[in-house]
Amino acid sequence: MEELMSYAWWTFAFRWLHVMSGIMWIGHLWYFNFTQAPTVPKIPMELRPAIGKFILPEALFWFRWGAMATLVTGLILAWMMGELGQTIRIGIGDHNAHMTSIGIGMWLATIMWFNVWFIIWPNQQKVIGLKPASDDEKKAAARLASLTSRVNTMLSIPMLYGMTSVHFY
Ligand code: HEM
Repeated sequence: MEELMSYAWWTFAFRWLHVMSGIMWIGHLWYFNFTQAPTVPKIPMELRPAIGKFILPEALFWFRWGAMATLVTGLILAWMMGELGQTIRIGIGDHNAHMTSIGIGMWLATIMWFNVWFIIWPNQQKVIGLKPASDDEKKAAARLASLTSRVNTMLSIPMLYGMTSVHFY
């Protein structure tokens, strides 16, 4: 019981919550890019509205809140480990590869979080009809959202390298 209340246990608990939130977020990101985007063109026109009406709203909910939970638990974890300042400075001046690695992962993931909340989600709201938009505006919004989503998929690769390669140094 004592162990359950220890600082070390709570730090571990935030690491656990952080990784689960990260899976919720990046899992959806990869679903959008590896499964949904290449499959939609193959779906008969009359069935396509089901995606926008039923799948996207639910998937976007878990996607964006997964991103929020990952950022919040990640920052709390960095603070609990006493490495928040050093990781924000990406280890510059400390000569510490661990801080550089996590810091690069954190900055990349923070850019990705920004893209989710301030580019992908506002544009997807137009696409799924939660925000008023003309047909042309919807097309432009869908294009910008999918390009940003692709950028995030590419960033996720070095981001996860930085986030996990600390075990190697
Ligand atoms: C959004 C900003 C993020 C912040 C601030 C952040 C912060 C952190 C911190 C402080 C650690 C522990 C570092 C250490 O052991 O010294 C960590 C580890 C980790 N993070 Fe993140 N992270 C973020 C995003 C992500 C994302 C998007 C994922 C995707 C799955 C992720 C997955 C992981 C994993 C797998 C670990 C390693 C766990 C382990 O080795 O036990 N993080 N993160």
